[in-house]
Amino acid sequence: MAEDARRGALPASGPSVRAGAPTGGRVWSATARLAGLGLTARRWTALAVASALLLAGGLTVAWSGPDEPDAGDQVAIGWHTSEPPNRPTLRGLAPATVRIGAAVSARLLDDVPYRATLASDFTAVTPENAMKWEVLQPTPGSYDWTDADRIVELAQANGQAVYGHTLVWHSSVPSWVSESWSRERLRSLLRQHVITVASRYRGKVWAWDVVNEVLAEDGSLRDTIWLRRLGPGYIADAFRWAREADPDARLFINDYDTEGRTRKADALWRLVRDLRTAGVPVQGVGFQSHLRSGRQPRDVTGNLRRFAALGVAVAITELDVRIPLPVSQEELVNQALLYQHMLAACLAVSTCESFTVWGFTDASSWIPHRYRGYGAACLFDADMRPKQAHGALVAELQERAPGAPR
Ligand code: G3I
Repeated sequence: MAEDARRGALPASGPSVRAGAPTGGRVWSATARLAGLGLTARRWTALAVASALLLAGGLTVAWSGPDEPDAGDQVAIGWHTSEPPNRPTLRGLAPATVRIGAAVSARLLDDVPYRATLASDFTAVTPENAMKWEVLQPTPGSYDWTDADRIVELAQANGQAVYGHTLVWHSSVPSWVSESWSRERLRSLLRQHVITVASRYRGKVWAWDVVNEVLAEDGSLRDTIWLRRLGPGYIADAFRWAREADPDARLFINDYDTEGRTRKADALWRLVRDLRTAGVPVQGVGFQSHLRSGRQPRDVTGNLRRFAALGVAVAITELDVRIPLPVSQEELVNQALLYQHMLAACLAVSTCESFTVWGFTDASSWIPHRYRGYGAACLFDADMRPKQAHGALVAELQERAPGAPR
């Protein structure tokens, strides 16, 4: 199979915004060693300065954007129509070769600070739920594209790339789909869905999670309606259908607990190798990265590299770092370090094409619903103020910026 993964300059996603960035001192290396994260003093310094500035300056993003626009031109309001925030933005520092993305909740698109921060800090978006089957086709035969279209249109207005999520998954299957139906009926239904959705957004999404979470924790194929009724071939079929519908989108397989060297990651590596050997157009591997502060996956960079060596692009697709509540400064710093570590791993691998956070404000995160006693997993707090984690990513991007002192 031709070498799919290449990290050339990405398609333009709107001019960048670069704010004057702070530079550093040397106070943290001891703590870094303590924290056993082996960060260079320089990184710690950059992180320390960015965090201290954030803590001291309490830079807020509550900038007063234009008055609430008329409903008619909602979508037209992108970042380019309003002043960029007076702080370093991830978008302003993003390297030309890596998309910095965020999962977007359609329900918050009328929230001005939410929309402004989405526009100012991110060069790519992933619909958090709007492109899932149960949302798109709540009743048989009729599609509701409202939320998905709105996110795509806003992204286009903002000059952002769209990562489609997700065509085939065992969850979010519409309730009207019955496992008792014949194999042929279920297979044609799934094929119809993949082709309908991927065709609609052809040319508007740069990549798709074609299949999501196909592996169980032990690395075996997850026991789902699709495996039970269609057999393991459903995975290859889904990729071929997606390719048929959109010859250009990058086609990813996406999973979790595979970011570091785990048994599940080993199984995913073998699955991708075998699919590609069989000529299945798997072009990218997405590592969700739903992490807990203080628990760094083992050898993330080495793991991404071995997948890249299979000829695929890699991506961090759903990063969040949950911390135990109530929030403590120590946990906020641990969180920041893990965000920075994951970004550094992506930047260290030439075919890592995107780094996406799963929600960017603590005001809208799935974590508290899933992990009782945990939360505050995002880069911005519930009042849209950037947290240390945001500062850590700024520091890492500044560290890598062309011309930055090496
Ligand atoms: O929109 C309905 C609303 O009308 C209804 O009143 C409400 C109460 O039931 O439910 C709302 O739908 C919820 C939807 O989120 C939107 O908030 C669904 O019940 C809820 O299940 C859904 O949760 C999403 C979950 O995937 C399941 O699709 C989370 O927001 C989303 O963050 C989460 O994301 C997944 C990725 O897709 C795959 N990887 C793991 C990640 C976290 O679970």
